[in-house]
This record gives sequence, structure tokens and C-alpha cells, in this order.
Amino acid sequence: MNNTSQIGVLGLGAYVPERVLTNHDLEKMIDTSDEWITTRTGIKERRIASEGEASSDLGAKAALKALEDAKVDPAEIDAIVVATLSPDHIFPATACIIQEKIGAVKAAAFDLSAGCSGFVYALAVAYGLVQTGLEKVLVIGAETISRFVNWQDRSTCVLFGDGAGAVVLGRVERGGILGFDLGADGSGHSILNIPVGGSREPITPENLAQNRHYLYMVGSEVFRFAVRTVPRTSRKALKKAGLEVGDVDWLIPHQANTRIIDAAVNLMGIESEKVVVNLDKYGNTSAASIPIAWAEAAEDGRIKRGDKLLLVGFGAGLTWASMVLEY
Ligand code: UT7
Repeated sequence: MNNTSQIGVLGLGAYVPERVLTNHDLEKMIDTSDEWITTRTGIKERRIASEGEASSDLGAKAALKALEDAKVDPAEIDAIVVATLSPDHIFPATACIIQEKIGAVKAAAFDLSAGCSGFVYALAVAYGLVQTGLEKVLVIGAETISRFVNWQDRSTCVLFGDGAGAVVLGRVERGGILGFDLGADGSGHSILNIPVGGSREPITPENLAQNRHYLYMVGSEVFRFAVRTVPRTSRKALKKAGLEVGDVDWLIPHQANTRIIDAAVNLMGIESEKVVVNLDKYGNTSAASIPIAWAEAAEDGRIKRGDKLLLVGFGAGLTWASMVLEY
């Protein structure tokens, strides 16, 4: 489009925990079935962090892979932006913990809260940081949502998984970020949240007993919002990039539900062969889902350097974010 075209991805990496939890495992834990989960969501299994493994541990492993891919030393990183809705602590930022773990000694570090849109929001923020003078920024989506779901609540616990993905952003010779669109509709803040544990409603024995410290979601409303929003934000990002839907080599949507992806893809008129989907293996990993899908498709050779990618996220806030870039 314009002078935005010179900032792009130097390296990419992802990490998922080893433990696999299948739909059949869930059948033994709660009143659900592989058939319900598969037909309603497309998910077959998800990864679960081991005891003592937190978002910073997953994020640090993904970050080290991205740094290796970029051939960049951690000490060269100027800033770390971590998108997460499952941080190690309310404070300090998970980004600071990752900074120490990977030895990014000169990096500024902060977290960004934009739900499942967080990774694309963080990429846009990192783009701004590089545009205004920083050289290399690490962008990480890292989640251990398994710690925040109620494992007795079948309407939510079957959906989510743990994992992390990361990119190193910096100056590139050609291509890079071509356009993006970010947005929010705060009137939907209460349909996807963790009600208790913040300053609005601190933890008490009573609200703990009511399980209100776990993730809460009105799934059907989020579903409708997502199908409406994905095509709209994608069109805006494509317009800013000066591209048409037909120019996109790969769509990498947030991996929440195959029915959401299929409906949005139909509305957008993108061929299904151009859509990266891996939620069958990992479930919804929130801010980590886009970079995990991207890294996996790059590693197996589907996505190649020079390909034009459309990333689209949506989630808590409610928020949405899309970005067009040449990888
Ligand atoms: O990352 C962004 C945030 N999240 C999302 O994007 C999720 C968006 N929403 C969705 O993906 C879908 O709304 C869900 C997968 C969460 C739910 O699918 P749905 O088609 O909207 O189902 P529903 O919530 O309307 O539930 C239908 C039925 C209910 O039974 P009744 O009331 O019709 O008898 C539920 O009790 O399915 C039942 N149900 C289950 N049955 C077996 C709900 N969860 C389960 C389950 N196993 N795990």
C-alpha cells in the first residue's frame, strides 16, 4: 500500500504442551460425546499444560523457536508484546517473565489483553513500535486456558486448549505488513469473560463456591458475532492493503469452531483449500491459535515465503482484528 510495506516477519515459531486430551477422554469426565464435540466444533483433541507449566513457559519456548528461525539473538530484541487472556499472574506482565526466561535483557516487556484477537492486535502494536524506531520486536500469543475453565462445565471445557506461538517483527526488504483493521464493541464485554477475580468482583468464598472465577461464555452470541465480523474486518484490511480476496494465498482465521470458519469463508468467497485449519488437534487456543496454525503450515511447506496471508481474529471484549501481510 504505502510506507507500511517494509515491516514484516523475520522468524516464526510455536510450541504446544505434550499432554493430549481427546474427546474420548472427555467422555469419561463429563456428560458429552465425541460426536457432539466433532459435529458442533470440529475439535477432536487439545493439548493441556502439565502441572506447574504456565503461559510464560509455553510462550518462552515458542519465542526461542521464532528467534532461531529469524537467526536473531534474544539480546537484540527491543520489545516483547505478549497477547494472553491466561497470564501467569494479574501482574506483573507475563512478557516480563518471558523476558527473563529467554535472556532478552534489553527488551521492554508488556502484555496486551484483547482476547482471541490479541495476537493480531499485538502484531499491529509491534508494527507501530518498529515504525517509530525500534528494530526488533517479539510478538507472542501464549495461553494456558485449561487453568481457567470449569472442568465440570461441558459447554466451555471441551472447546479450549493450551499453546503458544511467536513471531519476530522487524525491517524486511520487501512485502511485510500491508494493511490491518482493529476494532472492539465493548457492549459485548459480559458475554465472554471471567467474572470474578478482578477489581470489579474480588474473590470471596461465596463467589468461589458459585464457580464464578472460571471462564463464562454465551457461545451462541459469540458465534453470531464471529460470523458477522470476520468477513467485515477482512474486507477492511484487504482494502487498506489494496488487495482483493482473490489475491490472498492463505487465510489463517482464529481457530474457534469449524462452523464459524466455514460460514465466514462462504460469505467471503475464499476457496476452502486456502484456509488453514488445525483446531481439530488443538481446540481453541485463543491468542495463540493464529501463530500456531501459521507456524505449522509454514513448517509443513504449505505456506511459503512471499505468500500473501490474511490473519483474522475475534473474541473477548468483544474485539476483532485482521491483517494482510506478505510473509
Ligand atoms: O474464541 C472466541 C470465543 N469462543 C467462540 O468463538 C465460541 C463460539 N461459539 C461456539 O462455537 C458455539 O456456540 C458452541 C460450540 C460453544 C456451542 O454450539 P451451539 O451449536 O451454539 O450449541 P448450544 O450452546 O446452543 O447448545 C446446544 C445443546 C444444548 O442442549 P439443549 O439445551 O439443546 O438440550 C447444550 O446443553 O448442546 C448441549 N451441549 C452439549 N452437549 C454435549 C453444550 N455443550 C455440550 C457438550 N456435549 N460439550
